Amino acid sequence: MSHSIPSVTYLTSPPEPRLQGSLRVPGDKSISHRSIMLGALAEGVTNITGFLEGEDSLNTLRCFRVMGVSITDPVAGVVRVEGVGLHGLKAPKVPLYVGNSGTSMRLMAGILAGQPFDTVLEGDASLSRRPMKRVIDPLTRMGAVIEAGEGGRSPLTIRGGQRLKAIDYILPMASAQVKSCVLLAGLYAEGRTCATEPAPTRDHTERMLAGFGYPVERHGATACVTGGGTLQGRAIDVPADISSAAFFMVAASIARQSDITLEHVGMNPTRTGVIDILKAMGADITVHNARTVGGEPVADIRVRNARLHGIDIPEHLVPLAIDEFPVLFVAAACAVGRTTLTGAEELRVKESDRIAVMADGLQKLGINAIATPDGMVIDGRGTDDEVFGEAEIWSQGDHRIAMAFAVAGLRARGQIRIHDCQFVETSFPGFATQFRNCGGGLVDAQAESTGLAQ
Ligand code: S3P
Repeated sequence: MSHSIPSVTYLTSPPEPRLQGSLRVPGDKSISHRSIMLGALAEGVTNITGFLEGEDSLNTLRCFRVMGVSITDPVAGVVRVEGVGLHGLKAPKVPLYVGNSGTSMRLMAGILAGQPFDTVLEGDASLSRRPMKRVIDPLTRMGAVIEAGEGGRSPLTIRGGQRLKAIDYILPMASAQVKSCVLLAGLYAEGRTCATEPAPTRDHTERMLAGFGYPVERHGATACVTGGGTLQGRAIDVPADISSAAFFMVAASIARQSDITLEHVGMNPTRTGVIDILKAMGADITVHNARTVGGEPVADIRVRNARLHGIDIPEHLVPLAIDEFPVLFVAAACAVGRTTLTGAEELRVKESDRIAVMADGLQKLGINAIATPDGMVIDGRGTDDEVFGEAEIWSQGDHRIAMAFAVAGLRARGQIRIHDCQFVETSFPGFATQFRNCGGGLVDAQAESTGLAQ
């Protein structure tokens, strides 16, 4: 498998006054990963619709194929997984490559810790800089044997054949990936494994385990599973990813005369912080056709242009909007007055250091954005039609940074040239096309292959 990918540069066009129309953004990344993982470990067939055909979830799919699971190629979001049961995975002959995906590495570490064979988990340059000690620590306490690089970085070598024991784990940080890793290892442990989180984080693992017929006990901040059960294959309808929809929510809020509807968006309450934050800033967002699909709430979201104002972002909303801050910083720059974010130090260990990279890019575009250890202070320029200047930005291997600056182009005086946008493929294939289709000006300029991902 070649891990080098061609580099892509986005060129924004000077102000496009309006975004219009209805669109459905691609499937939820978190739910797509989990649908492959639990589908593979289930007994019987799991039929998935709405699967995200992005590089991150495709890497999870490829890894389970390498471990002997029969999974069809996704066609228009439809995937069939023939589950092998919790004890049916086969030893891979090669390292498992997960690319840019922290979710794949951290959740799979929990599953792999319980297997009878050794595995190696490796990722791209960005992932190899991200902290893995946060999963190595609880797994080691459960009896797993894991070798990592310096400072607990990947690649991870996970030694199979260990007898895992249940633990009661108090998470030191609000992280759904760590919580999920512990619960997934708990499926293989003797006894009852519990994970307690300091603040609510996305609960897709708990919901999906229950949907596959695996009992999950939930009391307040604690979720527990008891090892030794089985999962039953089922149908999964993956809703559109609210984290991808967020780019359009901000785009329509800041571009004059906009009115768009985002269809079939996942509205799990552990993910809707972006709507609460934008509404607190004065956004015009209405929720329609609220319904439940396969255990997850879903709705259509209408967003119209509005005059935003700066706020102090409530800290309890931070984990509920954790992936949306790059584009929320763009919204803050387009607001009247100051926006302050605190309690968001986790942003420093995402696909890039999102505090440093966003503050730097916003400053280049003429915004007074000051990075702090755990957040940012942004002085909005909402009274100006053209909020941003023109500049060249490097997205530092981070899909959400690339898309956030593409949205900024809607209120820029000149062109924003955004490099390394190939990583947008990890979570939002077709972003530039969907953005253009509803009226945003964005050219997707392809350059030669650089091997940047390695
Ligand atoms: C995810 C959890 C979050 C989020 C990531 C996906 C998941 O990470 O940022 O994009 O699917 O569980 P953390 O758990 O590290 O906060």
